[in-house]
Amino acid sequence: MRGKLKIRVNERVTEIAAAPHTPLLYVLSDELQLQGPRFGCGLAQCGSCSVLVNGEEVRSCVTPVSAVAGKSVTTLEGLPAWYAKQKKLAKVPALHPVQQAFIDEQAVQCGYCFNGMIIQAAELLSKTPQPTEAQIRTAMNGHLCRCGSYPRVIKAIQRAAEAAR
Ligand code: FES
Ligand code: FES
Repeated sequence: MRGKLKIRVNERVTEIAAAPHTPLLYVLSDELQLQGPRFGCGLAQCGSCSVLVNGEEVRSCVTPVSAVAGKSVTTLEGLPAWYAKQKKLAKVPALHPVQQAFIDEQAVQCGYCFNGMIIQAAELLSKTPQPTEAQIRTAMNGHLCRCGSYPRVIKAIQRAAEAAR
């Protein structure tokens, strides 16, 4: 059944060649050349491969591509447009406020974890626009940073929430 599956990624519908059980992450990187989601553990443990599926954070390394048929996938590349749609903005900003805040706070070092951190934070702020520090810590709990950037990540999320106030 190759070539029959269609998926919606960053608001574009594409027919893909991969078999239905192929991990979504492989399709995003190999077929769609989207480099935001990254391969880390491949076991749903680190969060580096996270994407939004219908606005919910999902680990694309363990999600068969067939599971997102009929749903809307957003990667880091599509986050500004996703935000603009959500907020009914007339213009798509260059960056999602969380992306801007991560830059402003210099929140990451090697940058490997930042895709998942930003995707998760965007999901959090879409549901809880003014989270407490405890809510931020809970939401980010499943994202590993080998560089230990957690304090600056929390500050960046607080900054993004403040900017949206
Ligand atoms: S690569 Fe998917 S959670 Fe680590
Ligand atoms: S900044 Fe290096 S893994 Fe997080």
